[in-house]
Amino acid sequence: MREKTVRIKQLKLGPMDNFSYIVWDKGLKEAAVIDPAWQPETVEEFLRKEKLSVRLLLLTHAHPDHANAARYFLGKDKGLALTVHKEDTFLLEPGIGPLTLLAGDEELEIGRVKIEVIHTPGHTPGSVCYLAEGAVFSGDTLFVGACGRADLPGSDPRALRRSLLKLAALPDGTELYPGHSYNGDTSTIGAQKEYNIYMKLAAKSEAEFLKAAV
Ligand SMILES: [Fe+2]
Repeated sequence: MREKTVRIKQLKLGPMDNFSYIVWDKGLKEAAVIDPAWQPETVEEFLRKEKLSVRLLLLTHAHPDHANAARYFLGKDKGLALTVHKEDTFLLEPGIGPLTLLAGDEELEIGRVKIEVIHTPGHTPGSVCYLAEGAVFSGDTLFVGACGRADLPGSDPRALRRSLLKLAALPDGTELYPGHSYNGDTSTIGAQKEYNIYMKLAAKSEAEFLKAAV
């Protein structure tokens, strides 16, 4: 198998066991920061240590516990924009920007690393997952052994089920990097299809999934 170009750092930060991720091209040292929300100095320290330049600031969705340090990075580098799905802008703090709005299903790049956007509404209308070289960053759509809440403003449990089915269609070996450390830090899509009750019920029927999810 071809050696991967991508490198991934998972940082557990803040009081809600959130994960921020740094994803970069190991040769070109160009990076994306996914869900910058807590302790931006810790993220910066890692970037400095690895000599990485941030090219993209990506949100899996716009809840504050995933987004509240974005302004810090935007203030430090005027060339940066915050990338978020257009249907989640209603959740952002007023006036934050500049923004790059996603419609879903775009392909982004950091250096030679391609990042595929997968629109996965349900937890929020503009939730997305990012897929980079066999690793999926799933935000609050899919956790290890659980899925995101579907009872919040803008949530849609039927859409969440369809989004979980989209993720289930990825290759079993796809590495899973969730938005919170709830029952574990990483897994694979294959393992989640095997034991995650929400993935199993989503595959079974909409009625079964809705009974468990709301
Ligand atoms: Fe969330």
